[in-house]
Amino acid sequence: MNGLNIVVIGTGYVGLVVGACMADLGFRVTCVDNDPAKIALLRDGGVPIYEPGLDVILQRNTREGRLDFTTDGDAAIAGADVIYIAVGTPGRPDGHADLSAVHAVAESIGRNMRRPAVVVIKSTVPVGTADEVREIVARHARHEFDVVSNPEFLKEGAAIEDFTHPDRIVVGCRTERAREVMGRLYAGLVRSGRPILFMDNRSAELTKYASNAMLATKISFMNELARLCEAAGADIEMVRRGVGADTRIGPRFLFAGAGYGGSCFPKDVRALIRTAEKHGVELRIADAVEAVNEAQKHLPAAKVIERLGPDLHGRRVALWGLAFKPETDDMREAPSIVIARDLAAAGADVVGYDPEALGTARVELGDAIRYAASALDAVEGADALVLVTEWSEFRNPDWAQLADRMRGRLIVDGRNIYDPAAVREAGFDYAGIGRA
Ligand SMILES: NC(=O)c1ccc[n+]([C@@H]2O[C@H](COP(=O)([O-])OP(=O)(O)OC[C@H]3O[C@@H](n4cnc5c(N)ncnc54)[C@H](O)[C@@H]3O)[C@@H](O)[C@H]2O)c1
Repeated sequence: MNGLNIVVIGTGYVGLVVGACMADLGFRVTCVDNDPAKIALLRDGGVPIYEPGLDVILQRNTREGRLDFTTDGDAAIAGADVIYIAVGTPGRPDGHADLSAVHAVAESIGRNMRRPAVVVIKSTVPVGTADEVREIVARHARHEFDVVSNPEFLKEGAAIEDFTHPDRIVVGCRTERAREVMGRLYAGLVRSGRPILFMDNRSAELTKYASNAMLATKISFMNELARLCEAAGADIEMVRRGVGADTRIGPRFLFAGAGYGGSCFPKDVRALIRTAEKHGVELRIADAVEAVNEAQKHLPAAKVIERLGPDLHGRRVALWGLAFKPETDDMREAPSIVIARDLAAAGADVVGYDPEALGTARVELGDAIRYAASALDAVEGADALVLVTEWSEFRNPDWAQLADRMRGRLIVDGRNIYDPAAVREAGFDYAGIGRA
């Protein structure tokens, strides 16, 4: 076993993947969470989230004695050489990141560390947070420590692959010792030549927000152009291909659709705007990215209302996909929430289906909509079907079967995954995003 004892605090989408993958690299890892139900489930061999491949890695490393789970953060910290902070940093109502969990963990680290340690901030945190954490830990610590900013770039749904094959690893730190420890931790992930980029803490913190804001910008830019395509008689899908083939631009994150959601882009774009304001800088592009995205989430419901009329009482609308993207059960800031609420507000009977997110959807949407056990059950008697999340199982529907089950003929393709000609040929009224 590798020499370093790692503790990961916060066992959510990021912390659990980091903990499992670091154990898989041979380190001894303890995952800590203050949610006793989550820890009990993990100890029983369960997985609290849906993330492809994670179950296998958790089982292997638990069985081989490299990975365990506890709610006792204080004891875990005492035996740690490396402490990852991977707790949530949700957006506050004013748009700033809520750092209360990060600060609480920093305090606990200071009080409980019993040997020199490297504190690694994995959570997405605004510029200057590493300095705050350094100060909080120092108030109580009786041992040497370093604070490293090591933002995470994984995507839910492909988290294991992203963590183990990163394009780059960003490490912000001050000391040679921290640099050496981080190099040891990640040596197994950069053998293919992908770089570890060492920099100062503040640049590392800002790199994470800049990356998310850049990707969000690509999406909002294309969503805005999609509106122009509709007005001007062009097809955004053709424009996307033409634009994406330019190697200076690249094909990814250019898909027009129902807007971006999730636990990162929305809150991180807002937090970046707030951080800039704090420093007296106006980020006009980020402001626009956020505004375009908020408007975009309302578009699919508007397309239904445009075709079926403003009063949807007595009308049934099926939603395919509720998670904010495929291959996750995460519903945080999912466009489906806005779409479902808009349709329900117009009086529609909304029936949702998702392969993995029905549980989280029930928490998020409660009885605002009804839930179906399958894609076909959802469309039973529906006047319209809105494709919200492009799960594989929705990609090639049997249109004849849909026509049998549905009452109406409206298909709103919120992710442009269908061929409009084929859908129309099957007798449906097709509406995509940005396809005149
Ligand atoms: N989810 C992603 O795709 C993603 C990707 C990159 C970065 N991030 C960032 O990583 C961080 C974590 O995100 P997430 O999606 O894993 O969040 P999450 O909400 O899934 O998990 C956070 C976990 O921390 C636990 N927690 C909160 N306070 C705690 C405390 N004081 N002590 C112990 N445990 C505590 C919670 O119970 C929860 O299990 C955030 O800053 C996020 O912005 C997320």
